[in-house]
Amino acid sequence: MTHTHDRLLIIDFGSQVTQLIARRLRELNVYCEIHPYQNVTDAFLAAFAPKAMIFSGGPDSVTREGSPRPPKTAFTMGVPILGICYGQQVMMQELGGLVESGHGTAEFGRAFVTPAEAQLSILEGWFVEGREQVWMSHGDHVSRIAPGFEVYGTSPGAPFAITADVSRHFYAVQFHPEVHHTPKGAKLYENFVRLAGFTGDWTMGAYKDDAIEKIRAQVGDGHVICGLSGGVDSSVAAILLHEAIGDQLTCVFVDHGLLRLNEAEQVVTMFRDNYNIKLIHADESELFLGALEGVSDPEVKRKTIGRLFIDVFQKYANGIEGAEFLAQGTLYPDVIESVSFSGGPSVTIKSHHNVGGLPEKMGLKLVEPLRELFKDEVRALGRELGLPESFIGRHPFPGPGLAIRCPGEITREKLEILRKADAVFIDQIRKHGLYDEIWQAFVAILPVRTVGVMGDGRTYDFACALRAVTSVDGMTADYYPFTHDFLGETATRIINEVKGINRCTYDITSKPPGTIEWE
Ligand code: XMP
Repeated sequence: MTHTHDRLLIIDFGSQVTQLIARRLRELNVYCEIHPYQNVTDAFLAAFAPKAMIFSGGPDSVTREGSPRPPKTAFTMGVPILGICYGQQVMMQELGGLVESGHGTAEFGRAFVTPAEAQLSILEGWFVEGREQVWMSHGDHVSRIAPGFEVYGTSPGAPFAITADVSRHFYAVQFHPEVHHTPKGAKLYENFVRLAGFTGDWTMGAYKDDAIEKIRAQVGDGHVICGLSGGVDSSVAAILLHEAIGDQLTCVFVDHGLLRLNEAEQVVTMFRDNYNIKLIHADESELFLGALEGVSDPEVKRKTIGRLFIDVFQKYANGIEGAEFLAQGTLYPDVIESVSFSGGPSVTIKSHHNVGGLPEKMGLKLVEPLRELFKDEVRALGRELGLPESFIGRHPFPGPGLAIRCPGEITREKLEILRKADAVFIDQIRKHGLYDEIWQAFVAILPVRTVGVMGDGRTYDFACALRAVTSVDGMTADYYPFTHDFLGETATRIINEVKGINRCTYDITSKPPGTIEWE
């Protein structure tokens, strides 16, 4: 098999932060893929033809019989290898060194590595100030390095913090260079890939051309259905597919009646009129709102919407003749999560709304053109495809829409009020030039009416909460520190401009313990 790009293989031994390695490499325009160690056989290695390999960290102990190992061939292919944490230890163990458990040398968190006498090319730019901060997370440690290796850096708990066999281009570090708390970590990756001969040929333009080729090869002259939500991921997926296969694509936009002000029109105009994409606007708001009548439990709301979404999608898709494929905007972190090593049952905090299970149910094959990308790379691809910036930079919007921003029972009246208040809040944020600094901002309408006085009259209207958070991935978040002036002005505007609201609060809960959405 020939590959268009230089490829780096990350063998995953189950570390929580393996995907950050991929992230760092893609920032360097290096094409890489993560594969769990169980899948990396000799045949796999031959087909993948890596130009370099990285062994990730992992939770196991190499001292345990039956613990994960890379195939022996990995060491005889003549390609550079970088071993990280467990990856370092497994490398030492396999090449004739010794790893031991505990004995008071476990290190977790910040540590400082000082250089040994010899210089190492992958450490170029390191040790400018004599020592370097790194992030450690290990119980076991290497107690004897393998023949051919030398020491290039030590820390109090890891006498072999950085080792290398320069003649074979094997490098091994005990710490995690991929995490933020190893400030020079990115430099180490950069040095490693440069030394391995990567030219940085994995640009977004190259990715786009590649992705189009792959879609054409997979789909042939078949027909593809793509669910469009108006969010960045599905929009980019749809436009990419349209560039690849034109009229063999039909998009289905399910309008559940829980969208923001004018959102449905914007999506339809954008895709049907601007891009000339075949689009079915499935206005099923009556169905959804009817089913949600009297429902106030958040999980019941989510499940009702999820179930109906699948039914509706299926109904419209069945009407599309000859449909063989279903396109989804699955991103790389979703793929990694689904092969995660943690495996155990995790508590459901919220049932996320998605179309999982749909392809099997409908007998459709999956097309996932964004499977290899992180969120900001999807945005870069969107730019490459000419999507307007206003679309690309949009805050995330949850599948169940306004239903989860309307705690308690959903009524049409409340949705109407909520839409207007939300539009004023976003308008304020945009006017003050804050939109791009904020991960997500919205209004939630609260299930309480409060007393107020407007003019000379008494009012008895709804209270609302403003929510605006900063975050990098939605997993943790903090409230945005608006000025008091901004908050005051926004509250005044909402109460004056939106009939039905007479009180405004600002939600200053971080995540955890709160969640971003109210339900
Ligand atoms: P929470 O509220 O769990 O939200 O802190 C984290 C991020 O996920 C979004 N979210 C959803 N997205 N379907 C989605 O597609 C859902 O069911 C869903 N629930 C929450 C939320 O908007 C935030 O960005």
